[in-house]
Amino acid sequence: MCGIVGYVGKSQARDFLLEGLKRLEYRGYDSAGVAFFNREAFKIARKTGRVANLAASVHANDLDGSMGISHTRWATHGDVTEDNAHPQTSSDGLFTLVHNGVIENFSQIKNFLEEQGYTFSSQTDTESLANLIAYHYAKEPEQNGKNRFFVSVRKALLHVHGTYGIVVMCRDYPGELVGARNGSPLIVGIGDGEFYVASDASAFAGKSQNVVYLNDGEVIHFDSKNFNIKTIADEAVEAVVQKIENRLEDYDLGDFRHYMEKEIFEQPNALQNAMRGRFSDDNSTAKFGGLNIEPHELRQIDRILFCACGTAWHACLVAEYMIEKYARIPVEVEYASEFRYRNAPLDKNTLVVVISQSGETIDTLAALKEAKRKGYRVFAITNAVGSTIAREVHGGVYQHAGPEIGVASTKAFTSQALIAAMLALYLGRIRDMSYSEGAKFVTALKTLPELVNNVLNQSDQILAIAKKYAQYEDFLFLGRQNMFPIALEGALKLKEISYIHAEGYPAAEMKHGPIALISEKCPSLFLATGGEIFSKTLANIQEVKARKGKVIVIATDSCEFPEDLVDDLIRVPDCHDALQPILACIPVQLLSYYIAVERGCDVDKPRNLAKSVTVE
Ligand code: F6R
Repeated sequence: MCGIVGYVGKSQARDFLLEGLKRLEYRGYDSAGVAFFNREAFKIARKTGRVANLAASVHANDLDGSMGISHTRWATHGDVTEDNAHPQTSSDGLFTLVHNGVIENFSQIKNFLEEQGYTFSSQTDTESLANLIAYHYAKEPEQNGKNRFFVSVRKALLHVHGTYGIVVMCRDYPGELVGARNGSPLIVGIGDGEFYVASDASAFAGKSQNVVYLNDGEVIHFDSKNFNIKTIADEAVEAVVQKIENRLEDYDLGDFRHYMEKEIFEQPNALQNAMRGRFSDDNSTAKFGGLNIEPHELRQIDRILFCACGTAWHACLVAEYMIEKYARIPVEVEYASEFRYRNAPLDKNTLVVVISQSGETIDTLAALKEAKRKGYRVFAITNAVGSTIAREVHGGVYQHAGPEIGVASTKAFTSQALIAAMLALYLGRIRDMSYSEGAKFVTALKTLPELVNNVLNQSDQILAIAKKYAQYEDFLFLGRQNMFPIALEGALKLKEISYIHAEGYPAAEMKHGPIALISEKCPSLFLATGGEIFSKTLANIQEVKARKGKVIVIATDSCEFPEDLVDDLIRVPDCHDALQPILACIPVQLLSYYIAVERGCDVDKPRNLAKSVTVE
């Protein structure tokens, strides 16, 4: 939430900052701002709306500088106005800063600073931090060998409660930046005679692959040549420079209209990447390099608790079905935001697994820290290499799905579901699953990218169905067993990008309330697979039809329907049960996407949302 990009170095900052901001726009997009600095005054531009508005203003006023900081905002404190956009500047004009996070004690800080004569012109919590730094700077005596700028930021932060990723400029220190982090990510990219700093390394894709991830409670000072990290408490920190893959082409939209569309069509590749190198030599089980636990220790686990938020929570539900079925280990699924405050009693042999595409979701991070604090072993399934969650856990599995930029998660979800299936296979094989069952499972998994491709090839038919249903304002998504998480995911996808009210339920639950919604104005989408419960799903469809509800069905090839029962039918191939949720999810994603496009919605940047929720 909120994107920060900063630069200091041998070039002019403008093009890099605006390009970086554009790439971070998925983190928040209600307003944006930039400050450049050479030697005289800060040159600041702030605009409500998208980064494009800001860029137009920056170009029109010919703003630039050899150093700069910039920000794309997802409002927490204060309306969406230019005054509340970042950078925020101290009332003495000496400091300007960009901030991602929430300063919880900002009213106390503000009251104190007002008594000291500092003034405020925004409703933001961030302005209190700019003034607090100015206050400490004014108090700090000049001393040889001491960087007063660095010291004042550090000292100010000692009084701050809350979360922050910040980058600060000081008018007395041209060519120098100070950044700090507590709970909101900040990554420094090392260039040749230049440094980049951002909330996400995608901002400097194609420019730097050598990065330093700041840890909570650390402050960094850098100019174009050197950097120095300390803790807020003034202890020296030895920086760890890491090499990451940070390719510009991964962010290229190509011929697609939206990142969501691109990412839906990237799924065969993303799934292939999740499996690459992860099967045993005898092709009867999965293998993972990063679990950091021996099979004999895993055999001691007698319960798994999955925690996540949003779509990733739906992936946890898929994992529950798979692991209970194939590994026979009891699984519980919790919203991370609930778990972190619930003080749930857990059995001592419980393994905690968090799932997070971004690896930065604050509730998921807090849940994992709580589990760790209580002594549980915690794994993560995450897409973002080097993310905070990836660095906090004892072990885990990277998705390798490539950057997901569309705010609505698509390829990340299916790859999480696939990794859940592979985990079920792995855990099953170190328990009761036979060699031949394992081998069949692996063979099936290997066909998945091709099967997904086959479903994607039906996009024209799905588009035609989307056009028929685009103007409805309510939808029900219904599915049984392993299709229930897909019903939830379908409802979430539709509502978040097209603003249609949608609810997901286990199909049989419909009769316990949601059936009251059914009328010709509320279509139902059923997810049906063959097998022993198909007849039950058929009965539920009949119940909807009897109440004049339109019915769309996503069904496996072997499901047969009486004539006239179904208004629109989308087929997915029959396959191994563990793959069914993944295959059924593809049409659900496409349908939501096409409906949103048909309604003229801003698919990649739905209203009120942002990817990577780093505030509570
Ligand atoms: C919905 C969506 C969100 C995320 C949720 C968790 O399409 O993308 O619900 O799934 O915010 O995000 P991560 O996986 O980054 O922890």
